[in-house]
Amino acid sequence: MHIAVIGTGYVGLVTGVCLAEIGNTVTCLDVDEEKVSLLKSGRSPIYEEGLEELLTKNLRKGNIQFTTDYREGLAGKEVIYIAVGTPERPDGSAELKYIESVCRAISENVRQDVVIVTKSTVPVGTNQYIKDLIEARLTPPITISVVSNPEFLRQGTAVHDTFHGDRIVIGSEDSWALELLEAINQPFQLPIVKTDLRSAEMIKYASNAFLAAKISFINEMSHLCAQVGANVDNVAAGMGMDKRIGKKFLHAGVGYGGSCFPKDTNALIAMGKQFDYQMPLLESVQQVNEMQRKRMVDMITTRLGSLDNKVVVLLGLTFKPNTDDMREAPSIRVAEELLRTGAVVKAYDPVAIPSAKTVMPEPVLFTSDLEEALQGADAAVIMTDWQQIKSFPLEEYRRLLVHPLLFDGRNCFTLAEMKNSGIEYHSIGRPV
Ligand code: UGA
Repeated sequence: MHIAVIGTGYVGLVTGVCLAEIGNTVTCLDVDEEKVSLLKSGRSPIYEEGLEELLTKNLRKGNIQFTTDYREGLAGKEVIYIAVGTPERPDGSAELKYIESVCRAISENVRQDVVIVTKSTVPVGTNQYIKDLIEARLTPPITISVVSNPEFLRQGTAVHDTFHGDRIVIGSEDSWALELLEAINQPFQLPIVKTDLRSAEMIKYASNAFLAAKISFINEMSHLCAQVGANVDNVAAGMGMDKRIGKKFLHAGVGYGGSCFPKDTNALIAMGKQFDYQMPLLESVQQVNEMQRKRMVDMITTRLGSLDNKVVVLLGLTFKPNTDDMREAPSIRVAEELLRTGAVVKAYDPVAIPSAKTVMPEPVLFTSDLEEALQGADAAVIMTDWQQIKSFPLEEYRRLLVHPLLFDGRNCFTLAEMKNSGIEYHSIGRPV
């Protein structure tokens, strides 16, 4: 198939490269000239495991190309994927201006019948809106069809997830378009869910909201576990063995962050409001997530009393390991609270110091050297479960910290290994 992918963010780029890998001829379009010239040279602007290898391989084979020119990029394409961002508006709803400008560009440049596939996460009803927008400006007799094909890729493991996901969802009102998308996706050898347009759009939001709910559920349990002397990790393991529950996304901690769960739960709540439905469960999911950050600071102040001039070091700043993404990272709120209570805040991250500097409150002392970070601190707080933090020798934590006092917001260590470490260890939902 001849395919165009519009938008080369982590979703668009991974989609384009993987579609090329399974034998399609793909043109990726982006308005960012710098990004496009970087990609033409075989280098990826984002880090995704395995992506650059597949990119260079398919560039060499001639299966993939990059351009900023819509006329050239859309010429002769049978399928056009839309993978541009839908950031959050101040009221929580999704911003569709990038989608709208892509629709304009498609209607101005496409000259043949085409199937439009939406990868971007868009509010229910947007695919119909996309179809209407494009058709309104097209000169007949071109036929277009729209398909919703939401992605379930995790940042950092997006290539792996494309080939090993649990399902591929395609939604459309046109059975021939569904069949075409089924054929394109067949080489991935994954179960395919064929459904209507609006249900496909909803599956994406509902899936992310459900995963966020699982995290907030176990975090709420962790609070009670700490009170009654139970171990939340053992509770999650026991619960997760029930296949109806499943063991994934039951890892208690300082809460979820990133560009997806916070944005998508907000967007669902905003959609609910449009229909006068309050979404009380999702509001609680967000509330518990917010409480987790505050709870971490409470744990520290309960143990240390006044934080005036106490040096507290945050270990890991990103919303999860193996990314430099700081969007909605729990470390931001924790740093704000610590500063408010008078602490001197140091912050360590192995890769994200440049991006952290743009969003963390001031004054925070940054370092990408773990030893330097721990040196002389009154307490250390693990915020992200980076391998560098998990594999740093416990004797070094003991030697470098003043007390030594370690708060673990991601339950990186077992209680057994901490027992004789000589470190005072506080974690989430487990006995001290
Ligand atoms: C999430 C979903 O997992 C993907 O399926 C989805 O495609 C993507 O959003 C999206 O909508 O684009 P992502 O945001 O990359 O992916 O990150 P996750 O690996 O899901 O982690 C999200 C947050 O939840 C992180 O802050 C992580 O630390 C936290 N988390 C995750 C927990 O606190 N506990 C867990 O058990 C799992």
